[in-house]
Amino acid sequence: MTKSNDLKQFWTRGNLHLRVREAMIEANLIDKKLEIEDLFPIDQYHARGIAATVDLGKRMPISKGNKILDIGCGLGGPARYYAKKFECFITGIDITPSFIELGNEFNQLTSMSNKIDLKVGNGEILELEDNTFDGAYSQHVTMNVAQRDRFFSEAYRVLKKGSFFAFTEHGLGPLGDPIFPLPWADSESMSYLLPPEETISILKKIGFTDIEIIKTGDKYMSGYEKLVNKTNDTIPPTLGIHVIGGPSMIERSKNSLKSIKEKRTLPFEVLCKK
Ligand SMILES: C[S@@+](CC[C@H](N)C(=O)[O-])C[C@H]1O[C@@H](n2cnc3c(N)ncnc32)[C@H](O)[C@@H]1O
Repeated sequence: MTKSNDLKQFWTRGNLHLRVREAMIEANLIDKKLEIEDLFPIDQYHARGIAATVDLGKRMPISKGNKILDIGCGLGGPARYYAKKFECFITGIDITPSFIELGNEFNQLTSMSNKIDLKVGNGEILELEDNTFDGAYSQHVTMNVAQRDRFFSEAYRVLKKGSFFAFTEHGLGPLGDPIFPLPWADSESMSYLLPPEETISILKKIGFTDIEIIKTGDKYMSGYEKLVNKTNDTIPPTLGIHVIGGPSMIERSKNSLKSIKEKRTLPFEVLCKK
């Protein structure tokens, strides 16, 4: 329980609503109807932003009308992008209540509430029926998950036979021990990285098949470089993931970039089937 409270505090970082409101006022995005694209700079909560969401979308076989699950949906940015692009329905769950509240507000502001339902939940114990979804994805979440086998078994349980599961994460690199604090953890007490081969063997044991893995380290290094350079500018951008991640986001991003360069971490993307 303490672990999940630590995670909620880590991800919320004080008064999230106030930080977002102030940034949106400055960006002139208050009291008007928004397009989902207006929110991309703050609602895609991972280093490569919308580019990573678009890349993952190119690999996922989503059809119009499908029911898709987003595990660790954050502020719902990826869910809004996929729901609009593929005309599918998305259920998103996340352990951080402030992200879910804000994500549902963003759904209303962008008129996406009829396509997306975001709820507080833990990927290790999904409160969802067996064999429900046509596909599931989890973008940059599992680094916080101690019980990987439980997390993946839960995803497997709620998926229909023949459906897909996709996820992205930072695995443990061959030279080990990342440099903290990182975008997903202030210390090793919140970070559970595994070498990619171990993660793949867990997936196989659970029953997932057709496992395809792509290493994304180069893309992440250039994503972090852009992020770090942008936030180093004398006038930082009004909207950006520093609004959600707070001032320490720059230091945490620099450490993540260094960790990839030094082969301490190894970002990758997986697509597999139930
Ligand atoms: C790096 S953010 C990614 C958010 C979102 N997937 C995106 O790409 O914009 C990681 C998210 O994982 C969530 N998370 C961590 N552990 C979780 C768990 N066991 N169950 C559900 N969500 C979790 C955090 O609350 C946070 O929103």
